[in-house]
Amino acid sequence: MRRGIAAGNWKMHGSRQFVADYVRALDGQVQSLECAVVLFPPVGYLPLLAESLRHLDLDRIVELGAQNLHTEVQGAFTGEMSGEMLADLGARWVLVGHSERREYAGETNDVVAAKTAAALRAGLKPMVCVGESEADRDAGRAEAVVIGQLESVLARCGGELGAIAYEPVWAIGTGRTATPALAEEMHALIRSALANHSAPAAELPILYGGSVKGGNAGALFAERDIDGGLVGGASLKAEEFMEIARALPG
Ligand code: 13P
Repeated sequence: MRRGIAAGNWKMHGSRQFVADYVRALDGQVQSLECAVVLFPPVGYLPLLAESLRHLDLDRIVELGAQNLHTEVQGAFTGEMSGEMLADLGARWVLVGHSERREYAGETNDVVAAKTAAALRAGLKPMVCVGESEADRDAGRAEAVVIGQLESVLARCGGELGAIAYEPVWAIGTGRTATPALAEEMHALIRSALANHSAPAAELPILYGGSVKGGNAGALFAERDIDGGLVGGASLKAEEFMEIARALPG
């Protein structure tokens, strides 16, 4: 059975004070959750977050991840971090293919596949993000775009991934959440595409992301193939993130 995952992508938000307050707010709440919890802070705050969680004995409950990685192990790549370095800092997970990196850093499907391979090489669990734009959906190519993004990763890396996150771009940060039925349709399609690649389709968690909030999480997570949430804005409020996590079964 797939265990639910509540994942918080802080994007480029936070400070040392934010980390301290956040971990204090998790304490006493995160211990009673049935689902797994993963936090993706800005990379510079990874060690502080890891240490703050350890201090309260929460490091066994909350796993950490990075929002990006480079494909190489080391070298003359100014400003970059390798998967091996992220693992060394306490990351167990890494986001790959987030739509903001596809859009602002020009990451193509090939780059995303190479980064997924690099994550696996470093022993990190890649959370591979896929999702169509509003223009893709309007043009009737949402499924083709999402499956194309997925297939390029599967062709290079196989299906032994950490998780897939379906994040329709038009729902990210817009307050326009996909309906549970629409999200479920895409999740079921993703699961069947995984099965075509003899990937462990039944075991791989598929998370939904895009304006997940305390108030809509329960309806989304009730769908058969939605195994959790990759939460942006609402994960910045520890209380609301915990409310979302409580909507997930173990
Ligand atoms: P929001 O929850 O802010 O819409 O962001 C979703 C997301 O991109 C998570 O990776």
